[in-house]
Amino acid sequence: MSTVREIFDSMAYGPAPEGHAEALAWIAAHQGRFGHWIGGAFTAPAATFETRNPATGKVLAEVSQGSGEDVAAAVATARAAQGRWARIGGAGRARVLYALARLVQKHARLFAVLETMDNGKPIRESRDIDIPLVARHFYYHAGLAQLLDSEKPGFVPMGVCGAVIPWNFPLLMLAWKVAPALAAGNTVVLKPAEYTPLTALLFAEISREAGLPKGVLNIVTGDGDTGAAVVAHPGVDKIAFTGSTSVGRKIRTATAGSGKALTLELGGKSPYIVFDDADIDSAIEGLVDAIWFNGGQVCCAGSRLLVQEGIAERFHAKLKRRMDGLRMGDPLDKCIDVGAIVDPVQLETIKGLVAGTEGEVYHAACAVPEGCFYPPTLISGLHAASKLMQEEIFGPVLVSTTFRTPGEAVDLANNSRYGLAASIWTENVNLALDMAPKVKAGVVWVNSTNLFDAAAGFGGVRESGFGREGGWEGLMAYLKPAAKVKPLAAPKPVPAPAEAVVEGIDRTAKLYIGGKQARPDGGYSQAIWSAKGKLLGHVGLGNRKDIRNAVEAAHAAKGWGKATGHNKAQILYYIGENLSARAAEFAARIKDQTGKDGSAEVEAAINRLFTYAAWADKYDGQVKQVPMRAVALAMNEPVGVIGALCPDESPLLGLISVMAPAIAMGNACVLVPSEVAPLPATDFYQVLETSDLPAGVVNIVTGSHKELAKPLAGHLDVDALWSFSSARLSGLIEAEAAGNLKRTWVNHGLARDWMGAAGEGRAFLAQATEIKTIWVPYGE
Ligand code: NAI
Repeated sequence: MSTVREIFDSMAYGPAPEGHAEALAWIAAHQGRFGHWIGGAFTAPAATFETRNPATGKVLAEVSQGSGEDVAAAVATARAAQGRWARIGGAGRARVLYALARLVQKHARLFAVLETMDNGKPIRESRDIDIPLVARHFYYHAGLAQLLDSEKPGFVPMGVCGAVIPWNFPLLMLAWKVAPALAAGNTVVLKPAEYTPLTALLFAEISREAGLPKGVLNIVTGDGDTGAAVVAHPGVDKIAFTGSTSVGRKIRTATAGSGKALTLELGGKSPYIVFDDADIDSAIEGLVDAIWFNGGQVCCAGSRLLVQEGIAERFHAKLKRRMDGLRMGDPLDKCIDVGAIVDPVQLETIKGLVAGTEGEVYHAACAVPEGCFYPPTLISGLHAASKLMQEEIFGPVLVSTTFRTPGEAVDLANNSRYGLAASIWTENVNLALDMAPKVKAGVVWVNSTNLFDAAAGFGGVRESGFGREGGWEGLMAYLKPAAKVKPLAAPKPVPAPAEAVVEGIDRTAKLYIGGKQARPDGGYSQAIWSAKGKLLGHVGLGNRKDIRNAVEAAHAAKGWGKATGHNKAQILYYIGENLSARAAEFAARIKDQTGKDGSAEVEAAINRLFTYAAWADKYDGQVKQVPMRAVALAMNEPVGVIGALCPDESPLLGLISVMAPAIAMGNACVLVPSEVAPLPATDFYQVLETSDLPAGVVNIVTGSHKELAKPLAGHLDVDALWSFSSARLSGLIEAEAAGNLKRTWVNHGLARDWMGAAGEGRAFLAQATEIKTIWVPYGE
């Protein structure tokens, strides 16, 4: 015990713990043992495991290890409840979501204390950040539900959504998954992380008070095996996952070809870039938030400090002083800055990673309590390729390096397999706004960090996953078009006839790579016959090497992404004009290939080029209204290099329907034309050659879809893969795509009416863009 005099001398804070009686009473009311929440009630606890308070090591409660049968029961209940929940309409669901938001606020203290006890995060954070954001999320989504029917006609819910969430923001991650799923009319089976299941169970219990119908929300607790059972269950229509990149990759592989929709929010190693003209004190405070918020156990933590060389020494010195002043201790204490690490397993991981570094390690001089705690740590003197500059530590450990020029800062920032978030600190608005589009990330904070809101999209690129949470863009991941789709009837190639009719001189169409016609690497070609047995020509049979060359050419053409919308439109119009000048020739070619009159298809193709010329400068971003003095700009950026297997049904229109939105949005692409009718595509590159399209923006590799799908889907420099192939390749593609976790858009054997509305529009534009949310402080 300090004397009053000593307290005045040291000016140290006394302990100010938040009471935990209410939280313990809630646990006690359940005899400290919980079953799953299925069909609006708890099941009897079975096969339980302990969940502990990491700050004290004490057991808080026992929860049940969900089995395959538990998951099946939850999915069946969710399925049975879904139709009715969808039919009450957006306005009806809005009432329930609003009630949920109100109840979260009413029970905010209980939620915050329980969260802190189960997770170890400081009460200041659970009370002031996690729980208010949870309430905000339900309010915002009550609004989306209210407006859904009028704003998004023609869309229906996906059905039953499976959600698997991590332990770092247990209730907030639940809100990020459950609010949009319910707003859209889906029902949910959610598996919380094994370390932190309690707030999800409390939320489930409270949801009854909000009038949430039984079976709409189901919680099955358990470990990774339970998560895997949710992912694997055939009755689940969509999976939303937040967690590690390695588990994200497993889920991508496990769902490949199943037809389940998937969004993944994975790890990161987000750069925190400080220029020499930054407001240093603000940048230091920002950094405290970036890496010591939730003990650095944050997917978008600013864990990689890049500081401009001239100020590095001063910045590090100030930073160390600030670190020494951080207070660690009982997370329930309101004066604590850094709490406990979620579990001893995680603590060991952090210790192991730090022990192995070649960098200079500085631990904050603050007192570190016994137990599951790790001090704020700075590791400097690392190189770009050092292990800890690349690997996610997921703890209170900052790594640091220096840069000289803005260009070098961009290179260092992007030297990562991740792409979740970035912070940019400079007083020069021109520099900040020049950097923002150059950094590969889903979220960029200008002179700020770790800002979140339900209205602003959050999510990553590269191995940080795909999909956005928040805003209309997040909601759309829980909806699908209402139109019924038919299975795809695969057109068969015309076999070589017994008696071939060979007229004129034999022509072999080459591949089209980097703006030039290229012979296929293997030197093989394939004869293409008309329905009447006429030899129409030969096309090259591309292979893995041709795909590699085409991807390289597409990369070299990425400057296209910086062309203005107006400029891209002009080129798309010009392509349309040149196609129109040769319309009769293309119509005849289609007739030869398909036996059907091709003029309507050519006309539709010209029209489609005009449509995307129109869109090129009209698919606007948005300014999101976030509840603070900042704007969040939702910018549509190109995805990068898109690979696409084009449909067989409409050989010219199909290719153009895929190519035009991709290039209108600034992507470069590698197209594999219809396998059975490739000649309209190889004729079409002559149109491209005369249309001022920069070399490499469109590359065409003919050949077997099955052969080419694998190298294209597996290529690490391809950012997205689309397939409308009539070969059944969705499973292969989605499994191969797990390598670099590229986005995929595949048809799962379902037909699309390329002549109609389903062949164009916003769905294509959304697939051709990444939304980058750029937070900019705005006004006083
Ligand atoms: P994790 O990715 O293993 O766990 C996340 C969730 O996935 C948990 O609910 C877990 O039970 C479940 N899960 C595990 N294996 C599964 C499988 N095969 N199929 C379906 N679900 C499965 O993360 P963990 O082990 O908790 O932490 C390990 C590392 O992951 C951390 O050190 C950190 O680097 C990273 N991580 C990243 C998070 C993020 O927000 N990006 C959140 C949590 C962890």
